[in-house]
Amino acid sequence: MSGEQSWSKVNRVSNTGVSGDSYNVYFGMGHCFKLIDEPGVFKVSLAGLAFGSLLIRYLSKECTNGRFLDLGTGSGVHSFLLKGMGVKSVTATDISKEAVFVARRNELCNFGVNSIEFTFGDLFQGLSGGAEKYDVILFNAPGWRTPSASFLTALKKTGGVEGLPIDSMFYGDRTLERFFEELPGHLSDGGKVIIGLNSLVGIRQVMNRLEELHAEKYVIDCRLLERHDFPLLFYTEDWARIQNLLVDEVMSWTRKGEAYCSMQEDGKIIWSYEIVEITLWER
Ligand SMILES: C[S@@+](CC[C@H](N)C(=O)[O-])C[C@H]1O[C@@H](n2cnc3c(N)ncnc32)[C@H](O)[C@@H]1O
Repeated sequence: MSGEQSWSKVNRVSNTGVSGDSYNVYFGMGHCFKLIDEPGVFKVSLAGLAFGSLLIRYLSKECTNGRFLDLGTGSGVHSFLLKGMGVKSVTATDISKEAVFVARRNELCNFGVNSIEFTFGDLFQGLSGGAEKYDVILFNAPGWRTPSASFLTALKKTGGVEGLPIDSMFYGDRTLERFFEELPGHLSDGGKVIIGLNSLVGIRQVMNRLEELHAEKYVIDCRLLERHDFPLLFYTEDWARIQNLLVDEVMSWTRKGEAYCSMQEDGKIIWSYEIVEITLWER
């Protein structure tokens, strides 16, 4: 799938109630959304586009009665897709207050009314339903693993980076471990997680951790639904400035078997985006 075909920039939209820059995202089957382009709110990436297009193929008509949770919703884009596909119960949450604020505005701009329950908090913490369990949980998870001490020292020497904070780029393995720890408390028996994993997080290790945590109490079924090779992008000018440091770090993870990427002849780094379905049944 070409990102260029599905993602177009629209400047200063005026007839939608949105002022400032926005961009269009197209997933297929006529599902197109206009999103506010706000610095600090995760812009839908090639991975997010692939995740959404998979949802269109994956979800059957019967699914629309299920309770859905979109964790790490960012702009809210996958919640809008669910709503557009007729899902009646959608809750969405993000650790970023700014993202949740923008997601609410995006919903209003695309649908004219707010019906998605947007909350903010760390993983499941902000959910107003508390002990409510969901039939399907979506998580296009943060991508890169915990950085090495030497990388952090070298980063400090460069004067650091602004724009996207380091915590929102790295430590994806720790976030996933906590997500898996808390998961059974929020997923209905036989419920499914559709999770987008970046090979730079160390997929084998995080999936092993899921087994360690829950295999005794749950039958865990994991299936790879789809896999894509995507180029590593340096999202802001600041990150582009330290790209050599970043490339050394991700290549060292690969050499040590902690994560995976490959380097093309032209020096471009390619990582693997893997969309996995996880089902948990109580034993
Ligand atoms: C890769 S982005 C995906 C955003 C959006 N779902 C998409 O696909 O465009 C990951 C999102 O997870 C959020 N996030 C990171 N850590 C989180 C946490 N501990 N709890 C909730 N959300 C988190 C980030 O703020 C970011 O919006």
